[in-house]
Amino acid sequence: MISPESTLTEILDHVWGMLIRGGADKKHAYHFPVFATYSSLGIEQRTLVLRRADKAARQLICYSDQRTQKVDDLQRNSSAHWLFYDHGSKEQIRAKVSVQLHHQDKQALKVWQEIPPSARGDYIGPLPPGSQTTQYTDNLPESFREEPTEENTEQGIGNFVLMVSEVQQLDFLKLRREGHLRAQFTWSHDHWENTWLAP
Ligand SMILES: Cc1cc2nc3c(=O)[nH]c(=O)nc-3n(C[C@H](O)[C@H](O)[C@H](O)COP(=O)(O)O)c2cc1C
Repeated sequence: MISPESTLTEILDHVWGMLIRGGADKKHAYHFPVFATYSSLGIEQRTLVLRRADKAARQLICYSDQRTQKVDDLQRNSSAHWLFYDHGSKEQIRAKVSVQLHHQDKQALKVWQEIPPSARGDYIGPLPPGSQTTQYTDNLPESFREEPTEENTEQGIGNFVLMVSEVQQLDFLKLRREGHLRAQFTWSHDHWENTWLAP
């Protein structure tokens, strides 16, 4: 339990522990964070699934379609922000990251092969996500709707993108009746620089 008596190292461990849980547990609040990028028109935000968090590598992993706006944004500016909030614990984590995109490389292929055909619908739309249409579309091929198979989803690898966010800074806030608690952790070359912040 995080409290003013906790050390900054304990808080950093707690933050990573929660991110790791968020990646692993579909029911955890941190499984569906907000991800913000810089577009040419300003900031764009959207909900994503946090697939995995890796403390040692300082990585947050998610998947997307190569044809989405966010990927276009990241190709121009690899800086992005993640926002996590857990209403149960009243804790917020903000992460400043730099994103590496893996498209049709070894890493993307390895992850793609682990995605079951039934979960590949998000990457096999005939239209690029965000395309304007004159009538309703679920943007799924007919064959996928009938039965997703390895064969009728394999073309999705052409769209699938593995997004690896390398964390540069973490900002942690815990709301407490007795007094809020805020701390910041900044990666500097080979170590975290930790500081308390006024909430
Ligand atoms: C609960 C939830 C989870 C989502 N997960 C993802 C995801 O993991 N990857 C993704 O690309 N889009 C995901 N989306 C859709 C995005 O929020 C967004 O609508 C889509 O990616 C297009 O965003 P863009 O045009 O800003 O790139 C999710 C949406 C919701 C509501």
